[in-house]
Amino acid sequence: MYDVCVIGLGYIGLPTASIFATKGLKVVGVDVSAHVVETINKGQIHIHEPDLDILVKAAVQSGNLCAKIKPEPASTFIIAVPTPFLESDEGLKPDLSYIQSAIRSIAPVVKKGDLIILESTSPVGTTELMCQWLLEELNDPAQSDDFLFAHCPERILPGQMLKELVSNDRIIGGLTPQASEQAKTLYESFCSAEIFLTDARTAEMAKLTENSFRDVNIAFANELSILCEDLSVDVWELIRLANRHPRVKILQPGPGVGGHCIAVDPWFIVAACPDKARLIKTARQVNDSKPKYVVDQVLERASRFKNPVVACLGLAFKADVDDLRESPARWIVEQLAEQLEGQILACEPHITALPKQLEGKATLVSTDEAIKRADIIVLLVDHKPFKKIPKRVLNERVVIDTRGIWS
Ligand SMILES: NC(=O)c1ccc[n+]([C@@H]2O[C@H](COP(=O)([O-])OP(=O)(O)OC[C@H]3O[C@@H](n4cnc5c(N)ncnc54)[C@H](O)[C@@H]3O)[C@@H](O)[C@H]2O)c1
Repeated sequence: MYDVCVIGLGYIGLPTASIFATKGLKVVGVDVSAHVVETINKGQIHIHEPDLDILVKAAVQSGNLCAKIKPEPASTFIIAVPTPFLESDEGLKPDLSYIQSAIRSIAPVVKKGDLIILESTSPVGTTELMCQWLLEELNDPAQSDDFLFAHCPERILPGQMLKELVSNDRIIGGLTPQASEQAKTLYESFCSAEIFLTDARTAEMAKLTENSFRDVNIAFANELSILCEDLSVDVWELIRLANRHPRVKILQPGPGVGGHCIAVDPWFIVAACPDKARLIKTARQVNDSKPKYVVDQVLERASRFKNPVVACLGLAFKADVDDLRESPARWIVEQLAEQLEGQILACEPHITALPKQLEGKATLVSTDEAIKRADIIVLLVDHKPFKKIPKRVLNERVVIDTRGIWS
């Protein structure tokens, strides 16, 4: 029997399973993807994260981590499957089907006293639902007290996951105090930061609140950037000056909000309280509208040229990563490729080939070539190499700097 069974071996599940294994626990990781399972059993990884390959290799070689397609008996189950949202007629709704199928998959192997921890970012009430789903699956309501359930939201940041896994404070919300305490003991095996105990609903809401807070604050900066354009005010200078106030800390605007967390999680609150979550919903709409605003800005500048060459710097969803998923920059370049009469040069130092949607519509070039050939330079991602582009080169071009790195 295993100590821990981790369901879902992606960006959250794989580092978590591996770190438990390197601390001496017997861990089985489960994924529905055969490719993922095979790759991990070879001591390799299928995702990009600094040093994760070393950790996984060590965990597999120690004999403490193996991957399987189906769950095995364990004293703790950790669920780290996706929680996207679905677009329906009534708006955006959280898609809990992955959690539900993870629960179904563990039903044949769970036993009295097992701890079941939800790590996936989830709407308030999901841990309670998980308990209900498991009992329905087991078809025996008498077993309701047999299991311990807790939610432990994950806050790690791609790019520095291994460091943050150990050093971030954690919140654990059990359906019972015993569940919280037992989960705390488990995470203490590798977490060196503080672990705070609460109830499951508060823990679920805490994670959604953290990302909604970020989203609302980014929306404020993005709205300022749009207002300043109309008012002929340099938004970067404005924010720099306003932030000299001792109690003001405005974030930096950008081309939109990407990634799988900040742009998703606030909708879970909006879906639960559609009439009352007005600020959170408006912030989402402001941030979602920003990429189109940038496209319109570029098209307006481009209309002054005949067959303009537009260099788009950055395709990733944020600085210094190679992840193009849920990226406003990539969306902007795709839209420009559709709408602009001219040539699009895409410059993304972290990739060697363009994504399918841009094949034949844009040309992947180096930073030097992009700035040499461009009439218009659109900075979309604040990757480090772009910060070194000399001012004198930029002065000879039309520049749209959505991140303010050259202001
Ligand atoms: N990636 C992040 O930076 C991050 C940060 C904090 C929280 N989260 C949250 O963590 C959760 C997981 O995110 P992720 O980024 O690890 O996702 P991911 O897509 O990288 O990995 C999820 C894995 O789960 C597998 N899977 C799906 N259904 C399964 C099932 N029924 N049984 C077994 N495996 C299954 C998939 O094949 C995939 O490998 C989400 O709720 C996400 O919002 C992610």
